[in-house]
Amino acid sequence: MPHTIEHAVPAAVEYCELRVAAGLSPMDEGAAADALPRSLFAVTVRDGGRLVGMGRLVGDGLHVQVVDIAVHPGHQGRGLGRQVMEHIMDFVHREIPECAVVSLLADIDWLYQKFGFDLPRRSVGMMLRRRPVPKQ
Ligand SMILES: CC(C)(COP(=O)(O)OP(=O)(O)OC[C@H]1O[C@@H](n2cnc3c(N)ncnc32)[C@H](O)[C@@H]1OP(=O)(O)O)[C@@H](O)C(=O)NCCC(=O)NCCS
Repeated sequence: MPHTIEHAVPAAVEYCELRVAAGLSPMDEGAAADALPRSLFAVTVRDGGRLVGMGRLVGDGLHVQVVDIAVHPGHQGRGLGRQVMEHIMDFVHREIPECAVVSLLADIDWLYQKFGFDLPRRSVGMMLRRRPVPKQ
């Protein structure tokens, strides 16, 4: 059965499970339930009913960030990550003003370079760590 792609926010429990399955840092389910409905735009990919891919755009329209791009390891390498990004970038180019800052924090660069993302020229990306980094 082909994958189903929707413009929808995942449920908190499946969102948390997919983040961990894809190797991203764990999120608290209650915090996710509060935060996910505040997404500007979200994409889900399902295999049957099961969430196997996702991506979101968060922000206020002037500063927006691409987050939570993840494909389940059993479904990677089949073009799903690219399709999630295509839907997000269609929304960006259609709905977000050109003056907006569109950013992301990437674990990998190859997917995002395809959509025009580049290292900032004058800025340095920084983040505040408020919990210990788990041992690999
Ligand atoms: C990153 C991720 C979302 C990519 O999803 P995916 O479905 O595996 O990727 P796709 O199959 O759509 O591949 C997209 C493109 O990248 C290329 N690609 C795939 N893996 C690659 C790799 N390891 N190195 C370089 N290019 C790669 C593909 O050939 C494809 O190129 P094309 O569209 O020009 O043919 C997925 O691997 C993932 O969830 N990884 C773990 C979580 C993660 O790192 N998320 C990103 C956080 S910033």
